Amino acid sequence: MRLFTTTAGLRCYLERYRSGTDVGLIPTMGALHAGHLSLMERARQENTIVIVSIFVNPLQFGPTEDFQHYPRQLEEDQQLCKQLGIDAIFAPTAVEFYGNHLPKSGSGTNLSQVIPPAAMTSVLCGRFRPGHFQGVATVVTKLLNLVQPQRAYFGQKDAQQLAIIRRLVADLNMPVTIVGCPTVREESGLAYSSRNQYLTQTQKAHAPVMFRALQQAQAVFLAGERDRITLIETVKSELAVAKGIQVEYIELVHPTTLIPLEQVEDSGLLVIAARFGSTRLIDNIVLRYRKPIVAIDGPAGAGKSTVTRQVAQKLGLMHLDTGAMYRALTWRVLEARIALDDEPAIAELASQSQIYLTTDNVADTAVRVLIDGEDVTQAIRTQEVTKNVSAIAAVPAVRCELVKQQQRWGCKGGIVAEGRDIGTHVFPDAELKIFLTASVQERARRRHQDLKDQKQEEVSLEQLERDIQQRDIRDSTRALAPLCKAADAIELNTDGLTIPEVTERIVSLYHQKVSAVPAG
Ligand code: PAF
Repeated sequence: MRLFTTTAGLRCYLERYRSGTDVGLIPTMGALHAGHLSLMERARQENTIVIVSIFVNPLQFGPTEDFQHYPRQLEEDQQLCKQLGIDAIFAPTAVEFYGNHLPKSGSGTNLSQVIPPAAMTSVLCGRFRPGHFQGVATVVTKLLNLVQPQRAYFGQKDAQQLAIIRRLVADLNMPVTIVGCPTVREESGLAYSSRNQYLTQTQKAHAPVMFRALQQAQAVFLAGERDRITLIETVKSELAVAKGIQVEYIELVHPTTLIPLEQVEDSGLLVIAARFGSTRLIDNIVLRYRKPIVAIDGPAGAGKSTVTRQVAQKLGLMHLDTGAMYRALTWRVLEARIALDDEPAIAELASQSQIYLTTDNVADTAVRVLIDGEDVTQAIRTQEVTKNVSAIAAVPAVRCELVKQQQRWGCKGGIVAEGRDIGTHVFPDAELKIFLTASVQERARRRHQDLKDQKQEEVSLEQLERDIQQRDIRDSTRALAPLCKAADAIELNTDGLTIPEVTERIVSLYHQKVSAVPAG
């Protein structure tokens, strides 16, 4: 593992090693804890090179805040990063990072800064920490520009920060995927935070009340309550009996826009900030009113598409047929007579086209496909479309646009989707993630049988095994949408199992894992 304290060193390292590989960045202020470790584990799984930045950013601390006392423990942090297989740490000094443009004390810098929308920074913590999110937005923009990662990882515990960073990246067209990771908690329910170190034993014993209060509100929500006042009152009354806590705010906002909500429509973010002595802690919970999403990923030949259709039918969910979406766009490209190598024209068409999937009856798996209002359910099954669909799907802009459209479907939930990165990229917050695999031998045997059934030319089992092995390597190393198992996916090896058996297992996992989620 390398340690860089200068931007020149880090730049040079990245220039040397990044070519053709995915880089993941975890921006931190150090004092690493289990929450950071979960981000690192996730990043390690999804990228070839993983960089952790450790920088206590003076710009995001107010004059009366804990900048001077913020825990700094580079030695221990280095050990942890090493254990987790991190490739490099970037730990600059403030002067190295900002030059001499920072004031020695107080406000007013001579530095270019990033100003997120006031509607997002003037609520929640922004009311109590003026300038904080501007400081966060500036440091994160600088880090993203410097490292140029494919993915950057942030914890859901800092929900306002996460929403602002997502918005920043969208507004400024930054080519990075922001990955939000679930809050990690101590056994008591207290969310891990570097600031927990400041708590006395007694305060630490009392602090889990924050999560208990949020859970209480979630229980009320799950029982059907949607009203802001009632949900906030539930939290308040739970906190009222707690000792040593001074509540700063309890708020209900939209998780993406942070606009205060009177009622939860599809989802709401319930947030608390409170002090225990002089230590300020925050916590939140997402109240979501959507049907679950099932993401099924896995290598070619593991039986994904048949299983996905059957799972959708058994659970009465919609099969989000992403393959049909790529076919619909291919049909549109062919119709418009755009040359297949004219990527810019294909990209334009992709972002102007609206693809719509519908089932007249949810339990019916026959999905009708419409593009720009035209029913192309039959038209997308022609040989011409089949021949060209993989070339169209390989255009990065096409994928980006169709993933956006798939995610719009995801807002309502109630879908089963299959692919190679559904659980990691398209629906990273899917309620159930399955990674369907089978040994190379089993997949070769199945393919052999298929070819035989279709009376196609015989290919030896050995040749099929070699082909499958090569395809696996290609699929998991390709730059666009590589095959990737989500850290929280359940692996299901289908060797020796029939399609109905695999379907049954997934349906039963769904009932075990997802039963707490309310029906939409
Ligand atoms: O969440 C944090 O630790 C910080 O706000 C961040 C994102 C590293 C920016 O300094």
